[in-house]
Amino acid sequence: MKKIILFADTGIDDAITIIYALQNPKIDLIGVVSGYGNVDRYKTFRNASYLLQLGGRSDIPVIAGAMRPLNGDEPEFFPTIHGSEGLGPIRPPLSESRFRFRTNFSKLFQLIKENHDDVTIVNVGRCTSLAIAWILAPDVMALVKDYYVMGGAFQVPGNATPMAEANFYGDAVAANFVMQHAPNLTVIPLNVTREALITPALVEIINASQTSQLGKLIKPMLDYYYEAYQSLEPGIKGSPAHDLLALMAAVDDSNMLRYIRRTGSVEFESRHADGLSIADLRPASVNCFGSNCPRIAVELNYKKFVSNLLTTLT
Ligand code: BDR
Ligand code: CA
Repeated sequence: MKKIILFADTGIDDAITIIYALQNPKIDLIGVVSGYGNVDRYKTFRNASYLLQLGGRSDIPVIAGAMRPLNGDEPEFFPTIHGSEGLGPIRPPLSESRFRFRTNFSKLFQLIKENHDDVTIVNVGRCTSLAIAWILAPDVMALVKDYYVMGGAFQVPGNATPMAEANFYGDAVAANFVMQHAPNLTVIPLNVTREALITPALVEIINASQTSQLGKLIKPMLDYYYEAYQSLEPGIKGSPAHDLLALMAAVDDSNMLRYIRRTGSVEFESRHADGLSIADLRPASVNCFGSNCPRIAVELNYKKFVSNLLTTLT
């Protein structure tokens, strides 16, 4: 089993990722760090806690992450895609005491130390909490075996701006920091995740085999998400499983993705292109090595994605 700490901003595709994690026997989800992103941090924290509770896994700690980007700007939220509460039509109870912030970063560091050398971090939201963790405790964060980050767009367009993907755009300073500091980093960018479509037909197949209260949330959330995406990208054939693809890659890729290794950075002082992700594609930088040399996913085998999806969720 792979021990995973998920850094999320629990909106809809993050929620699907949490449900997949709980239903996949290869995954031991040992913690969730919940920061602002799709909605504010209070809501992401509540959403993640609610999903874990419905899944009978309130034992998994939810750690309160960042509330705003490192440059101090007010965050921008995305209610048109994820709904005002973050889970589309699902409205978790609002003020239950169990959703109070129970834990902080000391719990994160404890989890990493306890599971020394055996923890994979999958970051599927803004990179702020991950960058802060690195700044606070670089020695502890260096104990993490592998880092997977959903973010960036190495072929434009992005989704937050013409040049930038939402997770990197939302905190470009933090995204650049993570790109340059996290060792063993794999980046799963938007230009690949937008191919990982969960079509309405797949949603029906999944829904038919889900019997639990938690599993029964998949269809209404994905129906909502698909409708939102259709108005953004008319003709799109399904819901892009951005965040889920990053978790799948971390757990059992089985050649589902093709990668390259390149020096990477994220633009954060630009007039029009903050959040732009840059990989050095010049021939001389092929197979760079050492620090700041992430693996970057460049191509998805869609059939393998579908097979992985259905193996876990049906
Ligand atoms: C990313 O941004 C968020 O809206 C999604 O949850 C995903 O993590 C896609 O750009
Ligand atoms: Ca996300």
